[in-house]
Amino acid sequence: MGERFPARFVWGAATASYQIEGAVADDGRTPSCWDVFTRKPGAIRNGDTGDIACDAYHRLDEDLDLMAELGLQSYRFSVAWSRVIPEGTGPINPDGIRYYKRLVDGLIERGIQPTVTLFHWDLPQVLQDRGGWASRECAYWFADYAAMIAEALGDRVARWITLNEPAIVADRGYRDGTHAPGLKDPAQASAATHHLLLGHGLATNRLRSLLGPSISIGITLDPLYAVPLRPEDAELAAEIAAGKTDLYLQPLLKATYPTLRREELVPTPNVVNRGDLDAIAEPIDFLGVNFYDPVFVTRREDALGRGETPLAGYSDAVIVHPDGYPVTSMDWIIDPDSFHDFLVELHQRAPSLPLYITENGRACYDYVDPNGEVHDPERIAYLRGHLGALRRAIDDGVDVRGYFVWSLLDNFEWTEGYSQRFGLVFVDYGTQRRILKDSARFYAEVIASNALPPLKEG
Ligand code: FCB
Repeated sequence: MGERFPARFVWGAATASYQIEGAVADDGRTPSCWDVFTRKPGAIRNGDTGDIACDAYHRLDEDLDLMAELGLQSYRFSVAWSRVIPEGTGPINPDGIRYYKRLVDGLIERGIQPTVTLFHWDLPQVLQDRGGWASRECAYWFADYAAMIAEALGDRVARWITLNEPAIVADRGYRDGTHAPGLKDPAQASAATHHLLLGHGLATNRLRSLLGPSISIGITLDPLYAVPLRPEDAELAAEIAAGKTDLYLQPLLKATYPTLRREELVPTPNVVNRGDLDAIAEPIDFLGVNFYDPVFVTRREDALGRGETPLAGYSDAVIVHPDGYPVTSMDWIIDPDSFHDFLVELHQRAPSLPLYITENGRACYDYVDPNGEVHDPERIAYLRGHLGALRRAIDDGVDVRGYFVWSLLDNFEWTEGYSQRFGLVFVDYGTQRRILKDSARFYAEVIASNALPPLKEG
């Protein structure tokens, strides 16, 4: 009984436009900053690009049927801005929006609720050329785009997410240059933080006034769960969590930026105009959170070769792998208890805001066996562990309304290209054939029973 989920809990899976659609020049789509960035030598493993990806643009019906087979209750997808407004601003492209209308209609016909993310990183390159998120105008371009999508799809879409992980956009796109647009400019990065948040607030306001009180609007963050490697790293971990999480959560919830020891992360007064913070704190209905792993941190000089990963904005700190924790093929630590503790902490910080887990999952070294099957017991164990932790967090009073597996399909994993497989469904990139992994069947069972199925013997 303890393993059952609340009655109206929403079970879903997530994807993002650039990671799955392909068809980058079809029906008037123009390049996004990711189409340009993937051309940069050395930017992406193996030189991979999203040109074809999962070819989802051409395989809509097949993918919709897969979702129905899994029994998904909601599908979280993102809209490719440059597909629907090829010039970034100005008129909507009827051929581009048609794809999303068909997608939404197809979902509804199958009883699956659409959850639309308006921005999952693929800014139209024409807008990047005009400064992208480092430019204040971008917040207004985004709000206009959001309003146009709301007009086109709003009668059939009840759940909206403005931005996916704005911290990653600012830190990796503008600060350390490992994501599109590949800039390494601290001033532009902190300006981008502000303009992303402002864009979110303005878009929320526009959606609310166009679509009314019954729709549900939120933003997806990736609050960092920073764990000190040693007791003496506690202050460092708190400081890092503040820069990654408070910097976004506090303006959204309290209309102020935090005071950080790393002052350069905080948007400077010359970019924050009067009234901006109130606009950013426009009320939302839920907080979307993506969680994959706890991040153990220590001072760079103390890392002692424990698999150090740099941390954008913190040249004196690194992410390390303490002994005793399993890792995924991304080298991300697996620790479901951290997911529970993370949720409890987040709820304490935003007690009145319902949460949706908008991404959770893991990459595995999946392959098709001689019988044409994909066995992924490690993914099943990950999902089971994290759903158990989530269930305990709900017992402890955390208001979680739904859960979306990342991802429905194996797809283009940004700088890792196609080397990392996160899907419930295996994609054979050579033929574009889809094969349900064992984890897809496991997840179908979770959905059908609204509970964690008992562990099988043997
Ligand atoms: C998240 C992204 C998502 C996917 C997962 C693995 O940060 O939002 O697109 O790449 O990581």
